[in-house]
Amino acid sequence: MTRLWYGGDYNPDQWDESVWKEDADLMRQAGVNLVTVGVFSWSSLEPSPGVYEFGWLDRVLDRLYDAGVSVDLATPTASPPPWFSRLHPEALPVTADGVRLTHGSRDTYCACAPGYRSAAVGIARALAERYHDHPALAMWHVHNEYGTTCYCSLAAERFRSWLLERYGSLERLNAAWTTAFWSQGYSDWQDVQPPRRTQYLVNPTQYLDYRRFWSDELLAAYREQKAELRALSSLPITTNYVFGGWVPVNHAQWAAEVDVVAIDHYPGRTDLGAEEQTAFGADLARSWAGGNPWLLMEQAAGALNDGQRLHPKEPGRMARNSLSHIARGSTGSLFFQWRASRGGAEMYHSALVPHAGPSSRIFREVVALGAALPSLAEVADAAVVADVAILWDVECWWAMQGTHLPSSSLDYLAAVQDAHRHFWRAGVTVDFAGPSADLSSYQTVVVPSLYLVSDEAAASLAAYVEGGGQLVVGYFSGIVDPDVQVRLGGYPGAFRELLGVRVEEFHPLPADGEVELSSGGRGRLWSEDVEAVSAEVVDRYVGGVLDGKPAITRRQVGEGTAWYVSTAIDFETAAGIYDLSPSPVETVRRRAGDTTWTFYFNHGDAQVDVPTDGVELISGARVDGSLLVPGGGYAVVRSP
Ligand code: GAL
Repeated sequence: MTRLWYGGDYNPDQWDESVWKEDADLMRQAGVNLVTVGVFSWSSLEPSPGVYEFGWLDRVLDRLYDAGVSVDLATPTASPPPWFSRLHPEALPVTADGVRLTHGSRDTYCACAPGYRSAAVGIARALAERYHDHPALAMWHVHNEYGTTCYCSLAAERFRSWLLERYGSLERLNAAWTTAFWSQGYSDWQDVQPPRRTQYLVNPTQYLDYRRFWSDELLAAYREQKAELRALSSLPITTNYVFGGWVPVNHAQWAAEVDVVAIDHYPGRTDLGAEEQTAFGADLARSWAGGNPWLLMEQAAGALNDGQRLHPKEPGRMARNSLSHIARGSTGSLFFQWRASRGGAEMYHSALVPHAGPSSRIFREVVALGAALPSLAEVADAAVVADVAILWDVECWWAMQGTHLPSSSLDYLAAVQDAHRHFWRAGVTVDFAGPSADLSSYQTVVVPSLYLVSDEAAASLAAYVEGGGQLVVGYFSGIVDPDVQVRLGGYPGAFRELLGVRVEEFHPLPADGEVELSSGGRGRLWSEDVEAVSAEVVDRYVGGVLDGKPAITRRQVGEGTAWYVSTAIDFETAAGIYDLSPSPVETVRRRAGDTTWTFYFNHGDAQVDVPTDGVELISGARVDGSLLVPGGGYAVVRSP
């Protein structure tokens, strides 16, 4: 039976058993069918070393089973208990400044510490042994949001082994890291350290390698737990991805190791930007999943936090955002958390059952969404249709987080988000793709600020254009190789020939600066002294030292076209390149066989009449030629 998962993190160990019965009743009322249990329960499960208390979890799982709620059973390894830190002080993490953290929050461990790794495997094994055949189980959830970095001496040792594996010799490492600069040449492996806090600018390749290393190390930690679970269970195993600049995880690479890609999504914006971020996060998740279904493991039922304060989600937004994820391939909508905590660090985080209890707007909306989701289940396996892909490469993001760039305004994530936003504002669905992905199915591929690129990826992009694709390469692309070394002879090194341009000098703009373009558009952040060697000039800089010089170029290559955009363009300029027009209605299409499902999200205030035929799934109403989508509303239409 195809169904969409609905529910979220359930933390019954924070509550008296008398509350559990109400939980089960309310879950049934809300149509909840999956809860993540035990994700931060290590000290409840193993209150002292080797002493397990499974009785409460037995009763919780039995009760959930009786209520028809499936369980995503988590290993609690993102928060070791206090006794663990007492017995393993060497496993407490050390910051880049050399400060060893103490117990008192979560994620206070170093994943390189052997003591931590064996304890994590131990509790995972104990859970697998006890629950592998429990009938409530639907899925395993390893850890929570892998993403911590540590700079301790144990991490330094592991880093050295990783480097030895990558480079084979100090000589090769010295060459890759350009250690001749500032007398950093290594003659003994013991001298190689993590990029801890230092006097001035950090070595860019050392910095990037430390991220690459942590991604591999955390993946190894995940794999060890997965092996314990797999030995006893054939159920899907996953871990919930967290996305952020601090996260040293290559999610695209990890996707090969999870049975279902699962993400947590908390927009940092609270206005329309949150809708765009929702689309962005979901499109990224789908790309990690290789276009296959994935799962929204966590989102907020209520208030969003912009870092300063909470902003309540206005009525309807929770359901609209849930559908936005489902439209883009999520097989459900899960939340942190089921019941708002009475105390603890996140007591004011919203929940499906808020502090006010079930007699509340949020819970009424939760029940309404739970009632609507079954009618959408038929989309679960259909493929999302997109003609445009935007390139996303986490290594490029990491490289651009180094301290060596020619402008502090260069921001890879922001450049990719800008590109995504241009299409989103026109209601067009895009995929993300990795740098070496097969792009042949796309009409257009956008490559924002791909600063770091390998020869293979550059060749694959060239082949895409030669095969008839339209490639649009953004400013500050193709500059360095995977060792963060400049490709000489003129920027944008790796793409110079393909684009038919040569850049001798960067002209970064002030953070709030703009430059006029001859088309009437405007550029921000960045400009370059571009020579159109074998490309046609589409747009030029107006005024300043670059007056009259090419800003946007286009080159015919075989059947395809390769564009170069040397500044951060506005929507109007992008609309000219991609033939877009702004639309308040975002449209996402899914297709399976001869059937198409179209999701419409109206982000405007006024109702919009969209031309379509079929059946609207939530209301069950027939649609003949036209459908009214109210302001802030949404609809899903199945058409033959
Ligand atoms: C997630 C985390 C949850 C909860 C939530 C709050 O990143 O996995 O445990 O902390 O954030 O927004």
